Amino acid sequence: MKKLSYPKNKIKVLLLEKIDKVALNIFKKEGYNVECYDGSLNERELIKRIKNISILGIRSKTKISDKVIKSANKLLAVGAFCIGTNQININACNNSGVVIFNAPYSNTRSVVEIVIAQIINLLRKIIIKSNKMHSGEWRKDSIDSFEIRGKTIGIVGYGNIGSQLSIICEALGMKVLYYDIVEKLSIGNAKKCKSLNELLKTSDIVSLHVDGRKSNSNLIGVKEFKLMKKKSILINYSRGNIVDIKSLIQNIKKQKILGAALDVFPEEPSNNNDNFISKIRGVEEIILSPHIGGSTKEAQKNIGNYVPYKVIDFINTGNTSNSVNFPKLALPEQTKSHRLIHIHKNEPGVMLEINKVISKYNINIKGQYLKTNDNIGYVITDIDSIYNKKVVNSLKSISATIKLRVLY
Ligand code: NAI
Repeated sequence: MKKLSYPKNKIKVLLLEKIDKVALNIFKKEGYNVECYDGSLNERELIKRIKNISILGIRSKTKISDKVIKSANKLLAVGAFCIGTNQININACNNSGVVIFNAPYSNTRSVVEIVIAQIINLLRKIIIKSNKMHSGEWRKDSIDSFEIRGKTIGIVGYGNIGSQLSIICEALGMKVLYYDIVEKLSIGNAKKCKSLNELLKTSDIVSLHVDGRKSNSNLIGVKEFKLMKKKSILINYSRGNIVDIKSLIQNIKKQKILGAALDVFPEEPSNNNDNFISKIRGVEEIILSPHIGGSTKEAQKNIGNYVPYKVIDFINTGNTSNSVNFPKLALPEQTKSHRLIHIHKNEPGVMLEINKVISKYNINIKGQYLKTNDNIGYVITDIDSIYNKKVVNSLKSISATIKLRVLY
């Protein structure tokens, strides 16, 4: 068994926001000291609790501010047991050499399944008819009711969710168009559109699966609704600010758009006790769901399983290949050597300084791996296990050093 530079039971893990028990068990099995808390913590509480914590697990509600990171004297990694990382001050983590891992694929399938359900719901008016029956009205008709077979779906954003949706839609007999700002390989018979406009003009169903970058705000507004086909439908299970809600309501009222399904909103209640306040309320052609696209038991288990292993691998080997903010480095196994993990500000000349120190102490390098991104330089140096331990302090004293860890 590989021995760590630091006894495992001294690695303290704090898991917030009811992270699935599967994660707790994985960390415990690894020998870490794990503490759990059901809710999220505010900045003040977190500053108190984060002292001596090496691994912090959060979901979407806990905000990791610069102040929190600065108070974290031992923090090595943040596990975001969710998809998004907007709640984390990534710059602050970079500056302190804290690596972030999230679970980008764990609820992909959950979103895809509910999107399919909503397309069928909308094309058959199931929710409207159901609501009418609950108030005693019987509406047996086929007005504006359609099969999905043969319809054209236009998928905007062909990432994890968009591309998986593409496969299922095709299996259901739909024609698939997609548009992405990045070159994406078409899956199956899906056809790439050259522009968003082209997709909007030709799709019966437009489904939005873009990420939350600033420029995507109001991606679908007055101009885009004009381009959409008459009686088409719109699905937004991505981010709340992507669709201009006022325009959507207008287009539904004048029956240009047959219906829409929304799971995300410009303003969402922060918890289940708050009211949902929106102009959309009462527009029966819009199916609403409370940001639950990815909320399934399976997804929570997947996330609980995925994040801890990425964090543990980073602690044990320095592997950052699935991290959010670090240069991505997948490393070979460490054999009969010690591993110096050096995190530094990405400035010119740091490698030279590191290697000067190593050569000053006459240390034999068995392997050296470097990756940088705009902010961070990440160098792993495997060295013979017998060496002058003063090298560690010398490396720490290089001015650009953010953090140094030794694995043995
Ligand atoms: P991803 O990052 O794998 O894919 C996003 C894709 O959108 C990328 O290929 C990107 O190049 C593309 N893109 C960005 N801006 C674009 C634009 N203006 N036009 C065309 N393409 C554009 O993300 P993933 O995992 O597929 O998630 C998609 C969205 O779904 C994200 O916004 C995510 O936050 C959201 N989501 C919502 C959930 C829910 O509960 N409703 C659950 C999981 C994810």
